[in-house]
Amino acid sequence: MPQPSINTPVPGVDTFYPLNDPAIGSILPTSAYPQNTKIPKLFQPLTIRDTTFKNRIWVAPMCQYSSDNGHATDWHLVHLGGLASRGVGSICVEATAVVPEGRISPEDSGLWQDSQIAPFKRIVDFAHTQGTLIGVQLAHAGRKASTIAPWVHLNAAKTRRASTWLAEKSENGWPDDVTGPSAIPFADDYPQPRAMDDKDIAQVEEAFHAAVERCKQIGFDFIEIHAAHGYLLHNFVSPLSNHRTDQYGGSLENRLRFPLKVIERVRKAWEKPLFVRISATDWAEGPEQGENGEWRYWGLEQSKFFVGELQTLGVDLVDVSSGGNYSKQTIPVGPGYQAPFAKAIKQAYPDLPISTVGLITDPKQAETYLEDGTADVVTLARELLRSPHWPMYAAQALGVAVKPASQYERAWLAVLTPKE
Ligand SMILES: Cc1cc2nc3c(=O)[nH]c(=O)nc-3n(C[C@H](O)[C@H](O)[C@H](O)COP(=O)(O)O)c2cc1C
Repeated sequence: MPQPSINTPVPGVDTFYPLNDPAIGSILPTSAYPQNTKIPKLFQPLTIRDTTFKNRIWVAPMCQYSSDNGHATDWHLVHLGGLASRGVGSICVEATAVVPEGRISPEDSGLWQDSQIAPFKRIVDFAHTQGTLIGVQLAHAGRKASTIAPWVHLNAAKTRRASTWLAEKSENGWPDDVTGPSAIPFADDYPQPRAMDDKDIAQVEEAFHAAVERCKQIGFDFIEIHAAHGYLLHNFVSPLSNHRTDQYGGSLENRLRFPLKVIERVRKAWEKPLFVRISATDWAEGPEQGENGEWRYWGLEQSKFFVGELQTLGVDLVDVSSGGNYSKQTIPVGPGYQAPFAKAIKQAYPDLPISTVGLITDPKQAETYLEDGTADVVTLARELLRSPHWPMYAAQALGVAVKPASQYERAWLAVLTPKE
């Protein structure tokens, strides 16, 4: 019997999208593509809880400074939707603030009120029609809140630089309502934070919980908690930004108390995959621990302890980044410069899925990190902005056939030609 010649629709959707089967970014069957006998790790699925990620090329969270009072707009639909239809295994929506004063910039996205649910749901629903999983990074900017967008601070040509990072009230900022563990500013041209009291701490914990409930309504597939880059949870764990003398400061256990409290609360409320992004080091000078045993800044040894606690709480994956909490940081930036941190953490916790991020641009480089046990997933940011079709280019470079969107098939005939 000949098959009916129908452009099959995605089922259960109130408009027409062609169904991609298998999903965009999935390896095609060996029966048709002998070159797919050995599947590169990049294109092997990964199952976490009941969720199967179709490949291991994931989109890093990337602030767009383009939200309308915390609401996603059509920019986000086009930007994230474009990635959803080009073969990545997962998309993490940008740092999304759980309270308005927890935004990095006035134009950050947010989930502090119900009106922010619908614009996100539209994007998530679209990603799902393209067979792509999508989650969100829940965040509080801590002492780095109320700042201006990078291109407002310094244009690309470097011909115009603002005198400060601070977003004033007249620039829609809230410089008098910036909080952190201690009243220590990140740098001279950043806001002066106020040390959080117990009430502030309880309110932020509640706000994370409320945002999780909104994530459920939106249908996000996972949540990532932002505990990196010098934002609130990183502020608490690092001795550089946390000088508290109460139960939330001082010893390593005390500095971890608030971040772990938030993450435990989220874990209890959220059954789907839960990830945490950490900074593995502050990139400050000298040893992490002084000769007297005192922790001098946040570094890999404390990160390992932190990750152990995260695993105990039931966190499903740790995304290993670095930096952002020390204004004089010197980072030896180069290809995969953060991969050694991921590898050290993976070695300490072999059963815990780990993601590596940071200057991963080349498919063979990316594949190496998965092959040599550095990480289980590669997360890309800028390379995917330059090259949203990167998963298809990676398939081409690694010599396997991977499904593009049917609408784009004619652009990928080289990848789609069966080879012995
Ligand atoms: C435009 C842009 C926005 C970013 N926004 C976030 C963010 O919202 N949350 C976060 O954890 N990291 C953010 N980052 C950092 C990236 O997620 C990533 O860790 C970093 O760019 C290094 O990866 P790459 O070399 O692949 O770009 C951002 C990076 C860029 C380029």
